[in-house]
Amino acid sequence: MTTTGTAAEYLPPRLSLKALQEAARTCRACPLWRTGTQTVFGEGPASARLLLVGEQPGDKEDEIGRPFVGPAGQLLEDALGEAGIDRADTFLTNAVKHFKWTPRGKRRIHQKPNASEVAACRPWVVAELEVVQPRVLVCLGATAAQSLLGRGVRVTRDRGRPLESSLAPVAFATVHPSSILRAPDAGARRRERALFVDDLRLAAAALAD
Ligand code: URA
Ligand code: SF4
Repeated sequence: MTTTGTAAEYLPPRLSLKALQEAARTCRACPLWRTGTQTVFGEGPASARLLLVGEQPGDKEDEIGRPFVGPAGQLLEDALGEAGIDRADTFLTNAVKHFKWTPRGKRRIHQKPNASEVAACRPWVVAELEVVQPRVLVCLGATAAQSLLGRGVRVTRDRGRPLESSLAPVAFATVHPSSILRAPDAGARRRERALFVDDLRLAAAALAD
């Protein structure tokens, strides 16, 4: 049984993306390192002005070791493009850096990380923010929003306007791209996707300010 501590004790003495990624590889601050294949660290230029935070790596990300390379990542990349943002200019990361899953037949089903796992992993994403110092922070989904912008944030209520944060000059919360993929029908998916692109356009506008 692994007790849940905090990743703070694993942080390197000097913060750089390279040192952080290296240190995070052997993080054991919560039990998720046991079932995840590898730590999936954030990716993107240290000079990025936009930093987006998801929940945790999915099945594909866990396998490959890079964030947002599965279906949700493809949706995100396309939506960013429609909002006039090149994915290559952004820093993409997650609130939790190991994949949490449960077996169902031969498949691995995503499980939501619990509050202590999110708290344990928080020092990694805070350190990424410290190094990158983006102008705009976008939290994708409730897990990231509540970890970084406060427990009271509700993404459906609080999307579409800047939120107070000490982590970046401008911060937004919006839905997670996976929630769009789970929309009940094609019409709902189209509407949800359009709202998501609108939110990303606000982020793009704030970058230009
Ligand atoms: N969902 C996330 O939140 N992050 C990823 O990296 C992939 C899917
Ligand atoms: Fe460390 Fe985060 Fe992985 Fe937990 S999920 S072991 S805190 S990197």
